[in-house]
Amino acid sequence: METLRFDRHRRLRQTANLRAMVRETHIHVDDLIYPIFVVEGSGVKREVPSMPGIYQFSLDRLNEEIDEVVQLGIKSVIVFGVPAEKDEVGSQAYCEHGIVQRAIRQIKENYPDVVVIADTCLCEYTSHGHCGVVENEQVLNDPSLELLVKTAVSQAKAGADIIAPSNMMDGFVAAIRQGLDEAGFTNVPIMSYAIKYASAFYGPFRDAADSAPQFGDRKTYQMDPANRREAFREAESDVREGADFLMVKPALSYLDIIRDIKNHFHLPIVAYNVSGEYSMVKAAAQNGWINEKDIVMEMLVSMKRAGADLIMTYFAKDVARWLNE
Ligand code: PBG
Repeated sequence: METLRFDRHRRLRQTANLRAMVRETHIHVDDLIYPIFVVEGSGVKREVPSMPGIYQFSLDRLNEEIDEVVQLGIKSVIVFGVPAEKDEVGSQAYCEHGIVQRAIRQIKENYPDVVVIADTCLCEYTSHGHCGVVENEQVLNDPSLELLVKTAVSQAKAGADIIAPSNMMDGFVAAIRQGLDEAGFTNVPIMSYAIKYASAFYGPFRDAADSAPQFGDRKTYQMDPANRREAFREAESDVREGADFLMVKPALSYLDIIRDIKNHFHLPIVAYNVSGEYSMVKAAAQNGWINEKDIVMEMLVSMKRAGADLIMTYFAKDVARWLNE
């Protein structure tokens, strides 16, 4: 009988050390960005019902959380403000003493090395819950830009290291870049939520940030989950307008988009592992149906393998702990 010839792929899988040597993708604590929700009041550390392990913090309890983040070696947080008062035009989003401005100031005063990212949007601050100015149930693009620029500048004044606009109005990067430059913040980078789909995976976040739209949905500004080429158009605009990072959101159901964007653009790519992706895993883990750690690490490695340089994730503290084990 002739000798059977075939490839022996298993040679490189024989031991843990050998597998580690040929591993192509790694998760590092530097890749992680941790989302934080801040609320008015005092003594508040309130768990978000649909997001076990994630809390809203009042400012007097915020340092407890940042202490932990810093101890775990996490370099960056993204801050979401949940104001007590909302109005039609989201005034608290760009108020000098708004909850998010105060939170940013406090973090930068106490932890100057932590990279503080400000989520720049209006939906947490408007009574109607939309990400812009509403007239006759329409979300108006250009008037929304003016408010968004005011929000970005107020966040930069408070000390935000990075501005992350997420409202998906056309021209938001151009408008914010100009606004920041005119206000003297030429060195503040823009992390654009360039490719943000109108996704059902944001459900739990809207509990956490109290930001569900009071009528209609976000489909006239966020992208259709069925579209791939449109992601290039969105990314091209943002690159041309001066974005410093490109974000794809959500992450897990959009790994193909992350890979497309990585292949065609040369900015750092951020994947947002969103609230619904977190809650699904938590619920299944609490039921004992899955191994949480293994599932989370596999999910995050898939995002990096797809091309993400950075991952925003509610699992950041858990992952940092697991990496240290
Ligand atoms: C603000 C914003 C949203 C998320 C991040 N920034 C919600 C939305 O667009 O409705 C969602 C994040 C998550 O689900 O974890 N526009």
